[in-house]
Amino acid sequence: MRTRALSLLLALAASFFSPSVAITDTIDLTTSVSGNQTLLSAGGVFQLGFFSPTGARTYLGIWYASIPNKTIIVWVANRNNPLVRTPGVLNLTSDGRLVIFDRRNTTVWSSPAATTGNQITTRAAAQLRDNGNFLLSSDGSGSPESVAWQSFDYPTDTLLPGMKLGMDLKKRLSWNITSWSSATDPSSGIYTFKLVMGGLPEFFLFRGPEVIYASGPFNGAGLTGVPNLRAPSFVFKVVSTRDETYYSYAVTDLSLLSRFAVNGEAERVQRYVWTNGNWSSFWYYPSDPCDSYAMCGPFGYCDMSATPLCSCLPGFQPLSQQRWDLRDATGGCVRSTNLTCAGAGDGFWPMNRMKLPQATNATVYADVTLDRCRQVCLANCSCRAYSAANMSGGVSRGCVIWAIDLLDMRQYSGVVQDVYIRLAQSEVDALSAAAAARRRPNRKLLIAVVATVAGVLLLAAIGCCCFWRNVKRKKLQAKTAPSASSRGQRQIDDPIHSEEDLDLPLFDMDVLLAATDNFAVDYMIGQGGFGSVYMAQLEDGQEVAIKRLSQKSLQGIGEFKNEVKLIAKVQHRNLVRLLGCCIDGDERMLVYEFMHNNSLDTFIFGQLCFFSTETASYYNVFTSSEMFCR
Ligand SMILES: *[C@@H]1O[C@H](CO)[C@@H](O)[C@H](O)[C@H]1NC(C)=O
Ligand SMILES: *[C@@H]1O[C@H](CO)[C@@H](O)[C@H](O)[C@H]1NC(C)=O
Ligand SMILES: *[C@@H]1O[C@H](CO)[C@@H](O)[C@H](O)[C@H]1NC(C)=O
Ligand SMILES: *[C@@H]1O[C@H](CO)[C@@H](O)[C@H](O)[C@H]1NC(C)=O
Ligand SMILES: *[C@@H]1O[C@H](CO)[C@@H](O)[C@H](O)[C@H]1NC(C)=O
Ligand SMILES: *[C@@H]1O[C@H](CO)[C@@H](O)[C@H](O)[C@H]1NC(C)=O
Ligand SMILES: *[C@@H]1O[C@H](CO)[C@@H](O)[C@H](O)[C@H]1NC(C)=O
Ligand SMILES: *[C@@H]1O[C@H](CO)[C@@H](O)[C@H](O)[C@H]1NC(C)=O
Ligand SMILES: *[C@@H]1O[C@H](CO)[C@@H](O)[C@H](O)[C@H]1NC(C)=O
Ligand SMILES: *[C@@H]1O[C@H](CO)[C@@H](O)[C@H](O)[C@H]1NC(C)=O
Repeated sequence: MRTRALSLLLALAASFFSPSVAITDTIDLTTSVSGNQTLLSAGGVFQLGFFSPTGARTYLGIWYASIPNKTIIVWVANRNNPLVRTPGVLNLTSDGRLVIFDRRNTTVWSSPAATTGNQITTRAAAQLRDNGNFLLSSDGSGSPESVAWQSFDYPTDTLLPGMKLGMDLKKRLSWNITSWSSATDPSSGIYTFKLVMGGLPEFFLFRGPEVIYASGPFNGAGLTGVPNLRAPSFVFKVVSTRDETYYSYAVTDLSLLSRFAVNGEAERVQRYVWTNGNWSSFWYYPSDPCDSYAMCGPFGYCDMSATPLCSCLPGFQPLSQQRWDLRDATGGCVRSTNLTCAGAGDGFWPMNRMKLPQATNATVYADVTLDRCRQVCLANCSCRAYSAANMSGGVSRGCVIWAIDLLDMRQYSGVVQDVYIRLAQSEVDALSAAAAARRRPNRKLLIAVVATVAGVLLLAAIGCCCFWRNVKRKKLQAKTAPSASSRGQRQIDDPIHSEEDLDLPLFDMDVLLAATDNFAVDYMIGQGGFGSVYMAQLEDGQEVAIKRLSQKSLQGIGEFKNEVKLIAKVQHRNLVRLLGCCIDGDERMLVYEFMHNNSLDTFIFGQLCFFSTETASYYNVFTSSEMFCR
């Protein structure tokens, strides 16, 4: 639609942008641009002049001179004040304004008077530059200090490289981009992309008064709703200082033509690049359903990899289950358990990889640590969540608390930022318990480490403790005491307990097969020369790590005994606990208690090193892997 209208535009334009000679890029107090005349930037990239999309109304604008017949207007001076009585003329007046007069000398449009400090001299001049900026310089030098006015400060619908989108609080400028009303009408349309200041600044795409897309709050490092704001050939930046906050970009190859514009037809902001004789779409936002503003309502969040896309935050439930089931999530979620609002009655649940909830109305404490932030939030009954306010350089600084509904969240697969959601402590406890049962992948590494340690110990060992202990007895036991334990483990109750007896239970192969779904890959959490490690849950709920020794590592019974003794010592030290073992044919397996992160950290990085000084074997093992002893 827009394309078709644009070709119409350029058909019309072709007659209007007639080949009048554009020999200069500058007007001063004695020259003007009138009728067909244009200014052409020095490198021939941009052109400035009057254009008339439908013939009836005429505008002063800037377009790509280097792109014949595919005219894209990147800036319009008088978008809401069209010139009707043509020809028009653009003059620079002696008081330092750029003025468009119509045929009757009526002022159609004028730039604001030069700000104080920029005394207009007789050498004042306005120059069209190769970056598309039409810059009025008070002394004609074009130096930054002499800038009295520039088109870059008054964007239309397009952001060119080097332009800023945001706000200059000192000069009281709002750099926003607003769509054309239609492809042939440059007057302000209903779509505006602009910065909203507040607790944390954020960019919003408005349709009239309504927000349809939000970039996610700026957290000092980036826009949390645009996690992949990088691309070869481009440099993107978001800057926030006391004086100004803005988004801007640059191209690394200056010959690359790129523009970022509000596309009203498609209701989105879009980046285009000029390639192969065409404008192609580079990216656009909103780019997926989860980008729709507040898609999942208050306290809901969106995840493109989930079905349905919307979920309630942990500890919350749909406001209306019926509407939620019909995939209408806009009503959002409500707490399952009310906050107590008393000291230890409430806690927090971290949500990882989040587009932060809208924070323009949140409260920011710049010099508060994250720990203190938690206290600040707990102390304020209306606080719903907290997070770090500034993640610049990957370091958490400052504090932002939300004493408002949490809106417009989504979860990404990549790292964005953690938000700590306030919940009743009872909810936190329930969630922790549930997560402990679920969070297998996070333990992968630690378990693999444990497995490796144990694996090293056992490399020299053979088979399973139970093997030399008489398979016959095991079978007998199975018959006489079929359910000595619900988890299918049986104690070796050897009446003649020798010193070497290790008192290790035997596990039935069938039990382990059932727990790991026949050693399905899904359950595997690590692998090494010693074999593979699986994580599983036994019937009684106990979580175990099962090490299935590779047959290569089977060795003599004597060595095995020694190793098992060592393991027994480890057990006495409350290290990784060996629950039992299993042998079936050529299979030898060891079953460990599954260790949870914290305790395991302590074992691996604390006690083991201390312990290593006591036992030569361990010492050797651990010093050979120095990482354990840092
Ligand atoms: C505009 O500038 C031109 C050239 O300096 C001058 O001839 C013309 O009179 C000016 N027009 C008005 C309305 O000031
Ligand atoms: C514009 O240029 C065309 C062709 O060069 C010419 O015929 C026409 O008179 C010009 N119009 C004005 C207003 O100068
Ligand atoms: C561009 O437009 C001009 C005149 O309107 C025409 O002569 C020329 O062939 C066009 N060029 C292309 C590449 O379409
Ligand atoms: C417009 O202004 C210029 C200079 O000020 C003057 O020469 C010209 O006669 C005026 N034209 C009309 C139609 O008033
Ligand atoms: C956009 O910025 C202009 C100033 O350049 C300002 O007048 C206008 O109100 C702003 N529009 C919105 C929707 O903020
Ligand atoms: C974030 O912290 C860095 C480092 O202290 C600082 O330079 C930067 O200005 C901060 N950003 C904001 C938006 O406060
Ligand atoms: C340019 O894009 C238009 C529509 O997007 C397409 O029809 C045309 O074939 C493209 N031209 C080239 C040279 O790629
Ligand atoms: C939770 O609080 C609301 C009002 O704040 C109250 O209407 C509701 O009954 C409370 N729910 C429970 C389970 O206490
Ligand atoms: C933020 O606060 C302003 C002013 O109090 C209010 O108009 C606006 O609706 C609030 N926005 C949100 C998302 O709460
Ligand atoms: C809680 O925080 C909000 C937002 O920062 C603030 O307006 C309110 O005064 C605070 N309430 C108390 C009791 O501190």
